[in-house]
Amino acid sequence: MSNSIKNRIKKVIGQRVINNIKSHPSIIINYFNDMVLYYKHSTVFFQNTPNKLECQIILDYHSVEKGLLFENTRYRFARERILSLHKNLKHDFIISRSHHSQIEVAYKVMCKYYELHQKNNIDIEDFFTPEQYGFYKEVLSFRYDSKFNGVISHKKSDFYKNTENNFFQFSNSRKSIRSFTGELVPITVIEEAVSLATNTPSVCNRQASKVYLVNDKESVDSILMIQGGLSGYTENINQLLVLTTDRNYFYTIGERNQFYIDGGMFLMNLLYALHYKKIANCPANWGKTKKEEEKIYDFVSIPRSEKIICIIPIGIAKDEFRVTLSKRRCLSEVMVSL
Ligand SMILES: Cc1cc2nc3c(=O)[nH]c(=O)nc-3n(C[C@H](O)[C@H](O)[C@H](O)COP(=O)(O)O)c2cc1C
Repeated sequence: MSNSIKNRIKKVIGQRVINNIKSHPSIIINYFNDMVLYYKHSTVFFQNTPNKLECQIILDYHSVEKGLLFENTRYRFARERILSLHKNLKHDFIISRSHHSQIEVAYKVMCKYYELHQKNNIDIEDFFTPEQYGFYKEVLSFRYDSKFNGVISHKKSDFYKNTENNFFQFSNSRKSIRSFTGELVPITVIEEAVSLATNTPSVCNRQASKVYLVNDKESVDSILMIQGGLSGYTENINQLLVLTTDRNYFYTIGERNQFYIDGGMFLMNLLYALHYKKIANCPANWGKTKKEEEKIYDFVSIPRSEKIICIIPIGIAKDEFRVTLSKRRCLSEVMVSL
């Protein structure tokens, strides 16, 4: 590298940074390696493996499930998702895996979507033909279920009846709720839930996670607008939690992703604690680019050392509400004995 380029780099990033990187050069190699692996194996650049195809199918069918949640169905919803599913569900490879949990449920969601429109005399033939419906039923064969529903209806009184029961019943009863009454959850109850979540184990007990409560509707709406994954449900969301993990507590290059793990663990514990305290909630994805993430700092004052892990709208559940089926994988798809 010529001296003039070296000097220019020095000027831009500063001598201190250069010295620090010289003493820990592996920071570059490791972050670069993370980037290469993400480039190769995520679905950002390639959709060329069975798992990548399955990822797209799940994204699409889950979006359709979410559309089925609305009490007043917006007919012909999620058209682009349906078109994407048509494209992927006709692959021979996918057909041959139609017994896999996520593929099977995708075919079932498609049948449900068609039947819902047929039952209500809504014409969708421009993007979903009777032949395609027939084909999906044929693929499902004996697994076709006319009673299948992509959503589950709950009465609030029943929904929370397992919160004091054993872990099996408790864990099976937690669900993401997106329909709130708009009433505010008392701060003391939120505090009790967050306190309970502090039981989360963390690396060397460093406890780097923090929870910010946003109570003002204008900020809540702005954050939800940036978040973008809850459109259609935001009207009655008046409170939300922002979960972060502080990078100050991580001290080796090997730990460069540890704060996501600790934050993720805190998140799960928080979701359970909220459920235990009968606070309806739905975690909302904060997988943002730098540019998108910057926008949130206009609405919440969070030190830049902290990584936002998740946004969690909270509230009081309506007396009756629906949740997505969100079919889980079966054990054989998850556990591998080596
Ligand atoms: C990190 C994370 C991000 C999520 N982001 C969203 C979101 O942006 N919008 C949404 O409606 N649901 C979101 N969800 C909820 C998932 O769709 C839901 O957890 C999944 O379908 C399983 O359903 P369950 O939580 O009811 O068991 C998110 C869940 C997690 C854990």
